[in-house]
Formats: sequence, structure tokens, C-alpha cells
Amino acid sequence: MTKAPKKQKKEVKTTGHSWDGIEELNNPLPRWWLWTFYGCIVFALVYMAAYPAIPLLKEATPGFLGWSTRQDVAKDIKKFDDANKALEEKLVATDLTQVSEDAELYHYATSAGAAVFRTWCIQCHGSGGQGAKGFPNLLDDDWLWGGDVETIYTTVTHGIRSSADDDTRTGEMPAWADVLEPDETKSVIEYVLKLSGQDADQQLAEAGAIVFEDNCAACHGDDGTGDRDLGAPNLTDAIWLYGGDRATITETVTKGRHGVMPNWNARLNDADIRSVTLYVHQLGGGE
Ligand code: HEC
Ligand code: HEC
Repeated sequence: MTKAPKKQKKEVKTTGHSWDGIEELNNPLPRWWLWTFYGCIVFALVYMAAYPAIPLLKEATPGFLGWSTRQDVAKDIKKFDDANKALEEKLVATDLTQVSEDAELYHYATSAGAAVFRTWCIQCHGSGGQGAKGFPNLLDDDWLWGGDVETIYTTVTHGIRSSADDDTRTGEMPAWADVLEPDETKSVIEYVLKLSGQDADQQLAEAGAIVFEDNCAACHGDDGTGDRDLGAPNLTDAIWLYGGDRATITETVTKGRHGVMPNWNARLNDADIRSVTLYVHQLGGGE
């Protein structure tokens, strides 16, 4: 039997190209493929009209649905804000010293406070609150201004030596270079070293004790343990804000110090300040 001649080939148009007798057929595209293709084009056009799509100079075309990621985020934030609103209002209305008695409120406040701390405080006080030279450690029980919740709240609200708040904490460590004679400076530095239990020249330290009494005791106290009303540090312990070695103490005494902490009432609302206060208070050194 001879095979039936290939009919099919004849029905399909060719493009007219032929290489060594091999012809290029011109099959129509499958229908399902073609319709999917047209569908995609229509979908793309509708999508471009509906959503932000075509970049312009400042932003993309808005799209008739008016959708934006920014709005989505704002909506999410509002949802959480609404959920927290009751707790926030309660926090503002509750006496700071009483918050820890309400477990739910206290948990909310310290978690919110941790977030505030991470956003606003760690660049100076360190990620764990451990501090750095000139920036106090907030984990220990050594406080310049005081470590009970109300004192911390005042410190955070009004700042320290912050020129932007009239109620800020003040108290200056003056520069003594032009006030004391060089030998007085030298001796009082030895006295400070002795006060903090370090190696010191005993004879100079003895003379320094008198210089201290006359010039320093007014702020640092007769015994050198400091004064929280003035933010004058305790000089008798091993905890230093700027440093306890001879060179750093010399720099502190001759040039003075002026540590500044911003007043946060300008940037944070009362609930945030209360939260971060409670967070700092429970870090370890709270009184
Ligand atoms: C720009 C740096 C800076 C930032 C940011 C900052 N602080 Fe301070 N903070 C300081 C300095 C400096 C001092 C010490 C001032 C001084 O010499 O008395 C201080 C002191 C404090 C004290 C007093 C400590 C004591 O021993 O009495 C507390 C409490 C405190 N900061 C909390 C905070 C909290 C909470 C935040 C975040 C809301 C914050 N700080 C953000 C710089 C900063
Ligand atoms: C008017 C008040 C005042 C007087 C007087 C004063 N101080 Fe101070 N002193 C301070 C304050 C406030 C600070 C903290 C400065 C800061 O936080 O930036 C300080 C800080 C220091 C420090 C740094 C402590 C640390 O932890 O790094 C030393 C050291 C010191 N004073 C020594 C002296 C000596 C010595 C004298 C006397 C010659 C003296 N001070 C007189 C207020 C005073």
C-alpha cells in the first residue's frame, strides 16, 4: 500500500522562503495563545490606569483607584494607634509611681518605652543604655540627677543644660584654668585621685583637700559624694562620666564640662516620655 500523500502541508500557507527545498510554513498562532496575549495587553492597560504606573518628574501617575503604599502604612499605624489609645490615655492619667501596679499597663508602657529608647536614645546612651564617655550609663544605680521615676521623668522631659527649654536642668562644671593657680590645680587633681581610691601624691593631695573645700565642695559636697540638685557627680567612686585617670581629670578641671541632653517634650508626646521613663527605670538602676 502506498501512503496517502501528505495533504496537510499543502493547506498551510508558506512564507515563500525556501532553503534547499525546505519551506518555511506560516502556521497561524494557536487561538488560545492569541487570546491570552490580547488579554494580557488589556489587563496591562487597565492596570496602568488603575494603579500608580507611569513615572513623572516628582511621582508616578496616581491611578484612578488612588491606592498608595503610604496610605496602607498610615492605615496600619492608625489601626495600632486606635488599639493602644485606651492604654495610652490610661498611662497619661496614672501617677507614674502607680503604673507598675497595673500589670497590663506596665507591660504596655515598658514595651513602648523600649521602642522609644531604640529610636531616640541609643545614639547617645548606647543600644543597651550602657553609655559612653560623656553619656551616662543608665543601667547602674549611679545617678547624676536621680533615679526614681519622677526624677527621670523630669530629666527626660526638660533635658539637661538644653537651651531650648527654660525648665531644663542646670548646674555647671566651671573651667578652673583661669581661676586656680597652677599648683592649686595640680594638688586638687591629686586630691580627686585620692578621693576615688587611686594612687596619688599624698603631699599634694593634702594641699588639694583645702583647695577642694574652698572651690569644689559647694557643688561636689564636703566629702566629694556629689550633689544631685546640681548634677555634680560623686567623685569618690570608680564610676566616671568623663574619666577618672589623671589626664582626663586634668582636662575636666581646667576646661570644665558642659554635657547636654535634649529636652524631649519638644519631640515626644507625654505618653512616650512616660513610657521611656518607665523603661529606663526598670533597666537596673531604678530607685
Ligand atoms: C544627644 C545625646 C543624647 C540623647 C539623644 C539622649 N541623651 Fe540622655 N543624656 C545625655 C547626656 C550628655 C546626659 C548627661 C548630662 C550631664 O552631663 O548631666 C544625659 C543624661 C540622661 C539621664 C540622666 C542620668 C542621670 O544619671 O541622672 C537620663 C535619665 C537620660 N539621659 C535619659 C535619656 C532618654 C530616655 C533618652 C531618649 C528619649 C535620652 N536620654 C537621649 C545625652 C543624650
Ligand atoms: C558650680 C558647681 C561645681 C563646682 C564649683 C565644681 N564642679 Fe566639678 N562638676 C560639676 C558638674 C555639674 C559636673 C558634671 C558636668 C557634666 O555633667 O557635664 C562636674 C564634673 C566634675 C568632674 C567629672 C567627673 C566624672 O565623672 O567624669 C570632676 C573630676 C570634677 N567635676 C571635679 C571638680 C573639681 C576638682 C572642682 C573644684 C576645683 C569642681 N569640680 C568644682 C559641678 C561643679
